[in-house]
Amino acid sequence: MSSAFPHRHLLGIEGLSADDIRFLLDEAEQWVEFNRRARKQDGRLIGLTQINAFFENSTRTLFSFEIAGKRLGAQVANFHVDSSSVKKGESLTDTALTLNAMQPDVLVIRHEANGAAAEVAEVMGCPVINAGDGSGEHPTQALLDALTLRRRFGRIEGLKIAICGDIRHSRVAGSNLHSLPLLGAEVRIVGPEELLPPSPPPGFASFTDFEEGISGADVVMTLRIQRERMEEALSDSLGDYHSLYGLTRERLERLAPNAVVMHPGPMNRGVEIDGDVAEDPERSLILDQVEMGVAVRMACLDVFTRPDRGA
Ligand code: NCD
Repeated sequence: MSSAFPHRHLLGIEGLSADDIRFLLDEAEQWVEFNRRARKQDGRLIGLTQINAFFENSTRTLFSFEIAGKRLGAQVANFHVDSSSVKKGESLTDTALTLNAMQPDVLVIRHEANGAAAEVAEVMGCPVINAGDGSGEHPTQALLDALTLRRRFGRIEGLKIAICGDIRHSRVAGSNLHSLPLLGAEVRIVGPEELLPPSPPPGFASFTDFEEGISGADVVMTLRIQRERMEEALSDSLGDYHSLYGLTRERLERLAPNAVVMHPGPMNRGVEIDGDVAEDPERSLILDQVEMGVAVRMACLDVFTRPDRGA
């Protein structure tokens, strides 16, 4: 099975099958306990060069890719956009060709343009892993969310999951809206009209009333308002978002008895989520998500650098 993974790049969840996703999650499982050990060193990527090219800010994703690569023995080089020739007007493709000429074995890329990872994959001789492209996809986030849920509930099938907030501009939603239904969850989208997708994907119940939308949910996934991806007028029109869409302790009463709360981070406390909800030890999986992020990225770096994976 390990030699049968049929994709050369990880550009999105779209295009993966449920079996592909389960395979990556199963691969990630082995790294969870490993990462809890005092000494964490595996040698399977020794001699390989991993470039992390982040054209947008990141805390969790960049660091977990870096830590993941190092724990597997890779040589990890971070490309810093602020000190790069991108500032001198170099195009994305020219930057990619330049990095490619240095013979990396895997490229992890985050970029503000939708489709950037796919564009770069066209010219790279190595696997490309999309760490977030504009409002497109963020596949490793969806994988780590799935792993977190699978470990908590023992299954994803049948879970009622409310994805709440700025769905329209969120690549986290973009990927989760592919993966969670494939894995058998019942997904709803909840948010103000202007932040829901212009033409809601078929098969999803959508709600503009927050309390109705989260009612009976097993999982509430809250998202940050992506002001950097929206017109100023839209951003200004959102008004008192917290009073209508903030996840407060009182609103948790509406959820299923064992419900959990997730957030990909970075969170804006007092806007989409209250601090006491985010810190609730019974319900919040926010730091579990971060922990699972390292395991998932180790699995992806390992699987996508295997010489016999698919074309
Ligand atoms: C998200 C991202 O950058 O897409 N963060 C993350 O990777 N965990 C979400 C966000 O920026 O709101």
